[in-house]
Amino acid sequence: MKLSLSKISVFERGYLYGDGIFDTMRSYNGRIFRFEDHMERLKKNARALRIPASGSRELKGLILKALKKNRLKDAYIRVSLSRGKAGLGPAPVKGVEPSLTIIVRPSKVYPRHFYRKGVEILISSTRRMPPCALDGKIKSMNYLNSILAREEATRSKAFETILLSEEGYVTEGTCSNIFIVRDGKVITSPSFLGTLEGITRKVVLEIAERLGIKIELTPFTNYDIYTAEECFLTSTGIEVMPIRIVDRRIIGKGAPGKITQLIREEFLNERSRR
Ligand SMILES: Cc1ncc(COP(=O)(O)O)c(C=O)c1O
Repeated sequence: MKLSLSKISVFERGYLYGDGIFDTMRSYNGRIFRFEDHMERLKKNARALRIPASGSRELKGLILKALKKNRLKDAYIRVSLSRGKAGLGPAPVKGVEPSLTIIVRPSKVYPRHFYRKGVEILISSTRRMPPCALDGKIKSMNYLNSILAREEATRSKAFETILLSEEGYVTEGTCSNIFIVRDGKVITSPSFLGTLEGITRKVVLEIAERLGIKIELTPFTNYDIYTAEECFLTSTGIEVMPIRIVDRRIIGKGAPGKITQLIREEFLNERSRR
C-alpha cells in the first residue's frame, strides 16, 4: 500500500452508501493509545460487514508513517475503510478492493474549564436506530442518526446530546458513551441496546474495576440521569468529561464528582504511561 494524498472515486461505496467503517484513535507523544483495542474493534466491524481488513502491523506502520510525515506526536487519527469502488446499486459487488484512508491532524484541546466545571448536555428527541436495523456496535460510515441528534445539540449550544433507544433507555451520545454514578456504582449502557463499545468506555471500566468501584452494565433511563450522583461522558477525543447539567437540570452537586475525578485522573495517568 502506498502513502499518498487520497482521491476518492465518485463510485466509492463508502461515499455513495455509507458502506464502510471507521475508527478514531489518538496518539500521545507519538504512541497510538490502545491501538490493539481499536484494531480489534475495526476487525470485528469489518467482519460484520464482510469487508477484508488490513493486518494490524501494516495499519500501524501506515499510521506511524502519516504521523511522521505530518510531524505530529499528539494527534487525532481517523482510519476509514470503505468497501471499495463499484457500480451503482446497493448490492455488494464481489472482488472489489477496499479503500483505506487515514486522516491525521493535531488533537483538539478542549478548554480546561470544561473539565473543571463539567459540561451541559441534552437528551435528544431523535432515538437511536434499533440494533435490529443497524447495530450501533458497528462504527459504520453511516452516521446520519447521530448527525440528526447532533443538530439539536448544536442549535441549543449543548456540548453533546444523548440518544435514547426506541424503548426509552439511555444508549450513548452522538459520539461518546455516557456513565452515571448511583449509590457509588459506575453504570453504563449495555451494548445490546445498540451502544458502541467505546475504547475509552473499556478503559474506564478497567480503571473502575482496578479501583474497586462496582460496575453495572444495565439499561437505565433519563430519570436515572437526572437523579444520578455523578455523570460523565467518554470518548477518544474528550477522554473523561464531567457533566454538570442535563436538560437544564443540575446533576448531583453541580460539579465533577469524586468518582468522576478519580477515574479521570487514572485515565490521564494511564495514557501518559503508554
Ligand atoms: C456513537 C459513539 N459512541 C461512543 C463513542 C466513543 O468511542 P471511543 O471511546 O472508542 O472513542 C464514539 C466515538 O466516536 C461514537 O461515535
